[in-house]
Amino acid sequence: MLLPIPDVLTADQVLRARLLLDQADWVDGRVTAGHQSARTKDNMQLPEASPAAREIGAMILSALEQNALFISAALPARVFPPLFNRYQGGQSFGTHVDNAIRQVTGTGHRIRTDLSATLFFTGPDEYEGGELMVEDTYGTHNVKLPAGHMILYPATSLHHVRPVTRGARVASFFWIQSMIRDDGERTLLFDLDVAIQRLNSEVTNPAPAVQLTGVYHNLLRRWAEI
Ligand code: NI
Repeated sequence: MLLPIPDVLTADQVLRARLLLDQADWVDGRVTAGHQSARTKDNMQLPEASPAAREIGAMILSALEQNALFISAALPARVFPPLFNRYQGGQSFGTHVDNAIRQVTGTGHRIRTDLSATLFFTGPDEYEGGELMVEDTYGTHNVKLPAGHMILYPATSLHHVRPVTRGARVASFFWIQSMIRDDGERTLLFDLDVAIQRLNSEVTNPAPAVQLTGVYHNLLRRWAEI
């Protein structure tokens, strides 16, 4: 499932983040790339320990904890501390698939990357190119969202970022280990949850929604790993 999540950050939060990102020291993005993707990766990144990365990362994580759409779609067990990248002057990232397991730097923790997320800090009118292209069984999807919005997609997907030929594309990217490893099962639970919300708001008799909520939780109990 490829799902845009609007307004993860408020306009004020985006402004604060951009101020910090403009003043930060960026390094070559190949620092976090695996062997294969280092060959096609051409961008800049913030060092993980940079104060800007930590402050904005904490802002994103606390926003996600309160985002009902994100929680329903991702069913998160663990979220990787957000990383930050910038593309400009023709920079791009060729087709690759993200590493399945990521070590959280400075901790003994590892995350299985079930979902990938990109949160945009610059708007579509501020740069040319820079689309995130995600391949799935229905073809290739072209993603370019307003600042503060985020795209969530299965980390199993091949994807690339098209060259940025004008302006700069600044974004955060990170991964989520879901309680539901399988994208198909997770999508079923999300669809069921959306249908239950609609029943709750459109139907006065609560009994069918209660019954389906029972089904939702029993499927979650059957499939979840925590
Ligand atoms: Ni990637």
